[in-house]
Amino acid sequence: MARLKTYGLVLLYDLVLWGALWTGLVLLEFSSSGGLVGLWAFGALRWALHHSITLVLSDRKPQQVLRRWVAVLCLLPPVFESGRMVMVPASTADDLGLVPGPSMVVLALVSSTVACLAWELGFPDDGGNQGKEKKKKQEARAQLMRVVRYCKPDALYLAAAFLFLSLAVICETFIPYYQGKVIDTLRGQYQHNSFMYAIGGMGLVSLGSALCSGLRGGLFMCSLSRLNKRMRHMLFRNLVQQDIPFFEENKPGSLASRLGNDVDKMGRSVALNSNVLVRSLVKTAGMLVLMLGLSWQLTLLTMVEMPLLTLLQTKYNTYNQEFTKQLQDCQAQIKELASQAIGAVRTVRSFRAEEKELDRYNQALERMYKVQEHKGIISAVHLLLRRMVTVGLKVAMLFLCRRLISAGQLSIGSVLAFVLFQKDMVTNMKHLVYVFGDMLCTVGAAAKVFTFLDRKSDQKEAGELAPAKLQGKLAFHNVSFYYPSRPNTPALKAVSLELHPGKMTALVGPSGGGKSSCVSLLARLYEPKEGQVLLDGQPLHCYQHQYLHQKMALVSQEPVLFSGSIRHNIEYGLVGCTLEKVKEAAKSANVHDFICTLEQGYDTDVGECGGQLSSGQKQCIAIARALVREPQVLILDEATSGMDINTQHVVQGVLAGSVGQTVLVVAHRLQTVEKADQIIFMEGGEVVEQGTHQELMASKGRYHRLKEELFED
Ligand SMILES: Nc1ncnc2c1ncn2[C@@H]1O[C@H](COP(=O)(O)OP(=O)(O)OP(=O)(O)O)[C@@H](O)[C@H]1O
Ligand SMILES: [Mg+2]
Repeated sequence: MARLKTYGLVLLYDLVLWGALWTGLVLLEFSSSGGLVGLWAFGALRWALHHSITLVLSDRKPQQVLRRWVAVLCLLPPVFESGRMVMVPASTADDLGLVPGPSMVVLALVSSTVACLAWELGFPDDGGNQGKEKKKKQEARAQLMRVVRYCKPDALYLAAAFLFLSLAVICETFIPYYQGKVIDTLRGQYQHNSFMYAIGGMGLVSLGSALCSGLRGGLFMCSLSRLNKRMRHMLFRNLVQQDIPFFEENKPGSLASRLGNDVDKMGRSVALNSNVLVRSLVKTAGMLVLMLGLSWQLTLLTMVEMPLLTLLQTKYNTYNQEFTKQLQDCQAQIKELASQAIGAVRTVRSFRAEEKELDRYNQALERMYKVQEHKGIISAVHLLLRRMVTVGLKVAMLFLCRRLISAGQLSIGSVLAFVLFQKDMVTNMKHLVYVFGDMLCTVGAAAKVFTFLDRKSDQKEAGELAPAKLQGKLAFHNVSFYYPSRPNTPALKAVSLELHPGKMTALVGPSGGGKSSCVSLLARLYEPKEGQVLLDGQPLHCYQHQYLHQKMALVSQEPVLFSGSIRHNIEYGLVGCTLEKVKEAAKSANVHDFICTLEQGYDTDVGECGGQLSSGQKQCIAIARALVREPQVLILDEATSGMDINTQHVVQGVLAGSVGQTVLVVAHRLQTVEKADQIIFMEGGEVVEQGTHQELMASKGRYHRLKEELFED
């Protein structure tokens, strides 16, 4: 109701203004408002006055739709009269001197209201989202500037590319101009000199344009590849430094997609867009000058197309941006599903889960298809509206051409040149508008890259401690720990235990007891929530990262090998490790003899993730990889479970014989831990009992019961 009152008051005010104008003109006996200039001046004055009254009426916060309505209402009469003058130049003298009559006022009122209503219905104002939208745009701009900053090292290449681009465009702009000249020389009386001049000019600008275009393309590609390389390097470096929970949240497939597709897209779109932007700007400016020289009326008409197309394109961009983001997520998910299923094809096959995987893949494809479908529909509607605007204006232009030619103001050659220009001009403008939209849209890809690039690892930063002599005494003090994905279920509850140098400690207990969680904390893959893990009395995070992982070696429950040679896998991460040392470690891990039977020995490729080896062999190589570092602390989490008894005995012998080393062994098979100096029994995330095998058997507790159960089995 309040809104209607505001509109009513503005309307009343408008009528009063018109009344004042008419009365003033009658009283002063003027028959004219001063022609087109007067009309525009009065329009501008009305606009200013109306704008101030809307500010007063709406408490300085007028709605968008009210502002639009006021602008259209005030400026429609002068725009209409200007258009009439361009289209029907002959009528200038008769009508334009007169003040618009009441019929014109009513017409302006009705058309502006209808236009604003149509706009409101078609593109409703999203008041609540406006602040958000603005913020989003600001962010997009900031991200764009950040991409531009990353291009700084290639400034020289880019400057040269832009120079050649501008030269190419300038040459290109002149081509239609010379084409028009050729037509005119052919139409009139043939003059050899002017014909040759026109043809020569055309050839020269065509050649220049082609040459500069080629150079520009090469330079752009070059700087783009350099940017791509830099970005990927930075992103990968940051990714590998992230904490483990990050990798639990973000699947490898989608990370790979960010690293590949999104970085690519970000670089390419910015390079392409700036290319199109400069090209279109230079070309538009050049063509505008030439077109104005040919006919200002036709140029003005061409210009009408731009705001209409801009409007359509801006709306389209908003939708497109959203769909592109959704599409990217879908693509990342599809990639992730495919790589997961193909990577684990053996498991998929053995569980006959092909159908299930296909189903999941299909569902993801379906989701992507839906997004693509919506995107397609929006794009089709946008295209249709755009075509309608273009065709309508083309018809109007042809009418105007006929008038100008019959009035002798334009030659056929000029019309041809103009039509060629006009086609280019509209395309250019479209590009200009499109570029802004596309830049915002592809900034979506950049935004994702930047979130990963800016992410700081949640893990405490490693300290500087690196003592020359390390004893290797490890202690858990009241350690409680929760996995980030299960923040309410404790994996370890107030665990306290000690591992001594020169002693072998065994962690035993049922599945899910928390053994591997202890190992993960020792390897600093996670941080404890409460309590501390100490190495020689100092918290683990105080030690240098490199130092810690050199002094402490871990062989995990599911050792991971990398595709590459056996030697590469054993000396992984070490610099300057000799083959002799590798062989010695392999001998200790009882795998040297097997390696010697291979045709290429230590250079044999183990296949992806060590897929060409048995799991026992993989474990042996993983143990060799730990032993070759000669660590002070050695942690084996079920590291011998896949080995035959013989190999297990050899490895146990090596571990038992390692003087001064702190050894922690996690095992299910109780007979393998009987020889340990200390046995810790864990269950439900707690230490239930600890002592030597004899002590635990004598106390007849959980260890004893488990042993009995196994024996009965
Ligand atoms: N990455 C993880 N995210 C969330 N919870 C986990 C994760 N890894 C293990 N858990 C949970 O933490 C608890 C302890 O698991 P842990 O791997 O330490 O057991 P474990 O004693 O090593 O068992 P097993 O003998 O079967 O190897 C279990 O309840 C398990 O479900
Ligand atoms: Mg485990």
